[in-house]
Parts: sequence; C-alpha cells; structure tokens
Amino acid sequence: MTAKLLDGNALAKKLRADFKTRAEALAAQGTRPGLAVILVGENPASQVYVRNKVNACAEAGFHSVKLDYPADAAPAEVLAKIAELNADPAIHGILVQLPLPPQFDEDAVLEAISPEKDVDGFHAENVGALMQGNPRFLPCTPYGVMKLLEEAGGSLKGKEAVVIGRSNIVGKPMAMLLLHAGCTVTVCHSQTADLGFHTRRADILVAAVGRPRFVTGDMVKPGAVVIDVGINRLPAEQGGKLCGDVDFDSVKEVAGAITPVPGGVGPMTITMLLANTLESAERAAG
Ligand code: GUN
Repeated sequence: MTAKLLDGNALAKKLRADFKTRAEALAAQGTRPGLAVILVGENPASQVYVRNKVNACAEAGFHSVKLDYPADAAPAEVLAKIAELNADPAIHGILVQLPLPPQFDEDAVLEAISPEKDVDGFHAENVGALMQGNPRFLPCTPYGVMKLLEEAGGSLKGKEAVVIGRSNIVGKPMAMLLLHAGCTVTVCHSQTADLGFHTRRADILVAAVGRPRFVTGDMVKPGAVVIDVGINRLPAEQGGKLCGDVDFDSVKEVAGAITPVPGGVGPMTITMLLANTLESAERAAG
C-alpha cells in the first residue's frame, strides 16, 4: 500500500493566492494587513523562520516589520516595544519568536501582547477561548494541520485521533481542535507507557515529538492519516538533510495518507499566520 501524499506546498499556494486577493480588497478600503515580528538573539533556526514569515507577508501584499534585538536585550525594552505595537493601528498581528533568551519570562512577554493582535494564539485569554470552543486565533501549526486534514477528505467525527507531543505550541492546541472536530483524542508523550498500543489505534496520527523518524510503519494502523509536524536535521554522517518525526519510507507503505517533510505541515504554519493576520485586519476594518 502506498499512501496518498498530502501536499502542503500546493495547499499553501492555493490559500495564499486567496489571502492576497482579500488583502488587496482590504487595502483598497484603506487597511493593509500588518504583522510585526520580534526576534531576540541569534538562534539560526529562529532567524530562518522569521525571514520566511516576513517574506511570506511581502508576497501576500501585507505590511510587515521585523524588529531585531541582541541576545542580551533588556526585557523592559522589548515589553515597551510590544506596548507601542499594541497601540499601532497599522499593525494587526504581533509575533514574538520563541524561544527567548533566559533573562525573559516567556509567559509575561506573551501576556503583554494584546489578545486582539496575538496571531500565534499563545496569550492565556486566547488559549482559554480555544479551550471553551470559541477561539479568536487558532495557533498556526495546529490550524494548518486541520486544513491538511480537510484536504485529505472524510469526516473527522467519531475518529480516533492520537497526538504525540504535549507542547503548548502544537500538542495541546492540536488535541483541542481535533476534539472540537468530533474526534476521540489521546495525547501521548515521553512518559506514555506503551506508545505503539495507542498509535496503532489511531485513524489520525499527529507526530510532534521532535525526534527524527520516531514513528515507524509498525506503529501505524493500515489506512491511517499520518501528519508529521517534526522538522529535524539529521547529523552530517547521515546526510545532514531535513526529516520529520515520521519514518516516511516505512509509514507510507501502511498509511492511507501522509504529509512529507519538507513540504507538508511546514508551509502551512506560515500560511495560517497570514490567515490570522488577515482575519485580524478584517476585524479591525469592521
Ligand atoms: N517557535 C517555534 N514555533 C513557533 C511559533 O509557532 N511561533 C512563535 N512565535 N515562535 C515559535
């Protein structure tokens, strides 16, 4: 059996074309969607992510500003900038790239962002709204996964969904979205006693563990939809290329559908950041 490929690049392209049209319509009425991205320090992966976010804004016709701070920046200085952006009518989304250097209290920084501009969906008010089933912004990666599942087709109601990973950024909001979609959800993590027992029951399996090729074909139910959120770089002696949390070669023989890495969830995350920024701008424009 060879799984259907869920092409995140193609879906991202389709959605971004629609966002560009909507952004142009909004701009014609005087509101250009605007995103501010704050990067503190020189984490190479964060630098790439931030550059990609800013470039995606330009391609979609959004306004964006990138604010760089050195690794030893004072938290007060960054908090003052966030307050300024909260009050800036040209900015509809504010994103602080994580992780932050150790002198920062990450939660305090996320709470300083206006919930109306929190396009990552990380503010406690927005996390609470999501829990209550009345979300303002959906966290970008889980939002992108839901779009890929829509593309895979078939109802999610009554399906067994298993999420591996319990982070605030992916695992927890992912579980909540699948729950709201009518799935029976299991969240597995590093202390789960018998991981394979759970994963083999999954109609929908989402891997967000951060360990290369962790999910192998023997852990997957035949016909399952497998979503790979991982982006890992293999060591140089193994070729140094990017790979996911899923062992693509063995899983594609068992699964019904699978996302590749790269080209699956990755392009969808930035696409949904654009979606959130656009929705925020549309709300601000009334
Ligand atoms: N670091 C890793 N993923 C993310 C994300 O989705 N948003 C932000 N702000 N930082 C991240």
